[in-house]
Amino acid sequence: MLELKHISYVVREGDDELGILKDISLTIDDHRLVVFTGPNGGGKTTLAKIIMGLVQPTAGQIIWNGQDITHLGITERARLGISYGFQQPPRFKGLTVRNLLTLASGDEKLSKDRCCQYLTKVGLCANDYLDREVDVSLSGGEVKRIEIASILARNGSLMIFDEPEAGIDLWSFARLTETFEQIHATGKATMIIISHQERIISLADEVVVVGDGTIRHRGSADEILPQILADTLSGCPVLTKEGAAK
Ligand SMILES: Nc1ncnc2c1ncn2[C@@H]1O[C@H](COP(=O)(O)OP(=O)(O)OP(=O)(O)O)[C@@H](O)[C@H]1O
Ligand SMILES: [Mg+2]
Repeated sequence: MLELKHISYVVREGDDELGILKDISLTIDDHRLVVFTGPNGGGKTTLAKIIMGLVQPTAGQIIWNGQDITHLGITERARLGISYGFQQPPRFKGLTVRNLLTLASGDEKLSKDRCCQYLTKVGLCANDYLDREVDVSLSGGEVKRIEIASILARNGSLMIFDEPEAGIDLWSFARLTETFEQIHATGKATMIIISHQERIISLADEVVVVGDGTIRHRGSADEILPQILADTLSGCPVLTKEGAAK
């Protein structure tokens, strides 16, 4: 179980303090698929990075399976089964896709077949990619999918995916959605997926809408999707009837 208790994150901007996350408390039970969604700049990535240990909260506690991990580093959290796929994944010159998957799996003898299985789950053909370096020669969508494959290879108990759909073509997106459904069905991992995609939101056991550094709504996909749509329309006069009539 993941427990976030009164998490705040404040940054200094000159003489001012800017509240990025404001007293967020949230509990996620094991094996749930939770989607974080909400407007750009709302604080989703910051919250994910705080769970992974990439950003240290200004206040609050993070409890993972009963253990206070607030002050643990990334490596220690990774050992406890937590993994995070960046919104914009880093590239690793000199490291091949096969090296990356092998490192992620922790199995020095990871077979070619297993590598292929991970790549297939994100819609990549292994023969074309296993010996490629994870460098700038890969396209944005390719590097994104390879990183997701590395999280699958890591096989942790808490997988956090930050906008896995970003830059990914429709065919690979369909494959990826199936993969999330399969992982969820096996009940082996808790998943937090940050997403703006209705298809991914509809997979969630629970949807958490993060906006302006706070949790604006929580509920099932059926409850939340109509609210998101209503919020979207009310925020944009062009999309409302009144606006359209003008
Ligand atoms: N270190 C920092 N210094 C100043 N501002 C920051 C810092 N980190 C994050 N922010 C700001 O905090 C807000 C939340 O950023 P975050 O990346 O968490 O948003 P997000 O919900 O993931 O947005 P998106 O949907 O665009 O990915 C943004 O306005 C961002 O500019
Ligand atoms: Mg983000």
